[in-house]
Amino acid sequence: IHFQKAKFTTSAPDITKLPADSGIEVAFAGRSNAGKSSALNTLTRQKSLARTSKTPGRTQLINVFDLDETRRLIDLPGYGYAKVPEAMKRKWQAALSEYLQERECLKGLIVLMDIRHPLKDLDQDLVFWAVDSNLPVVILLTKADKLKPGQRKKTVLEVRQASKNFGGNVEVMAFSSHNGIGLPELEKKLTTWYCP
Ligand code: GTP
Ligand code: MG
Repeated sequence: IHFQKAKFTTSAPDITKLPADSGIEVAFAGRSNAGKSSALNTLTRQKSLARTSKTPGRTQLINVFDLDETRRLIDLPGYGYAKVPEAMKRKWQAALSEYLQERECLKGLIVLMDIRHPLKDLDQDLVFWAVDSNLPVVILLTKADKLKPGQRKKTVLEVRQASKNFGGNVEVMAFSSHNGIGLPELEKKLTTWYCP
């Protein structure tokens, strides 16, 4: 897979406006500010494919990136941003769980969490929904450059241990968009999903 060939194709305001449910899709999800857009840019070696921001809640739309005619990457809006109205939060959660359950072409979910604050309630909900839908999950512990190597390894082991409670196919990796930690592992995993 040539991740560098990723091209922005469309922004969808909701799940019903996504491209036809065929081919293979992998989605990136996580709390606002977890580093989803940065990870997509790192993966695709494109500085500004997905818009990043210091302000949480930057990505409001579902952004779709084509890798080729049949393979897509999806940048989902972040959750858990305090300033979003309660009704909107509930609406988005419902849409997200529906997407995970109904989307046939979705073959894997990357759940990004800041390595300094992993496994918040909403993160756990999301992983549980995915496991319920028999979707393989990678928990990507982002901003790994913020921790010293020893602390980083310890956190990965702790999250890996805790993840056994999800009961499904859940892997845990450290990742950094700043220094490339975990990029080869992420690419390898994505390739197994995109080329079954
Ligand atoms: P929303 O679209 O709001 O949900 O956020 P997002 O998850 O797409 O986060 P984004 O990629 O925009 O990054 C948020 C902030 O974290 C930015 O200030 C990034 O520069 C920073 N950041 C992202 N990845 C890393 C990383 O690997 N290391 C460090 N140190 N900072 C990072
Ligand atoms: Mg974003």
